[in-house]
Amino acid sequence: MERLIEAALEARARARAPFSGFLVGAALEEEDGRIFTGCNVESASYGLTMCAERVAAFRAMAEGGRRFVRIAVAADSEALTPPCGACRQVLWELCGDVEIVLVNLQGAQETMRLSTLFPRPFDAKFLD
Ligand code: THU
Repeated sequence: MERLIEAALEARARARAPFSGFLVGAALEEEDGRIFTGCNVESASYGLTMCAERVAAFRAMAEGGRRFVRIAVAADSEALTPPCGACRQVLWELCGDVEIVLVNLQGAQETMRLSTLFPRPFDAKFLD
């Protein structure tokens, strides 16, 4: 867990957030222990900005990760920063009901299941 949190904090330092100034890092852990990191990457169009959590999830897909245990999200906010709605949807579809570990720079930490944050998801089951 410490390794995962460290990876999220390190990824945060690589965030490209010139417009908001709000740096976020994420680290997604595979069942086999592999860690895939992401940081937020902002666009001058604003709308094309990508959150740290989705960068981590998409990177994991591209690198062959498929079965995940948890994702750590690091941001500099007193109230711990949870994944946005778009990230909750994508994490649900790509990672399943993973643990979400929220941390800040003061060392505060809270863990919850994605299903707690996203209790009634729309997903592939509806398309059967
Ligand atoms: N952001 C994330 O990367 N993850 C979150 O969980 C919340 C928001 C980013 C998007 C944008 O670059 C900045 O934080 C401000 O919203």
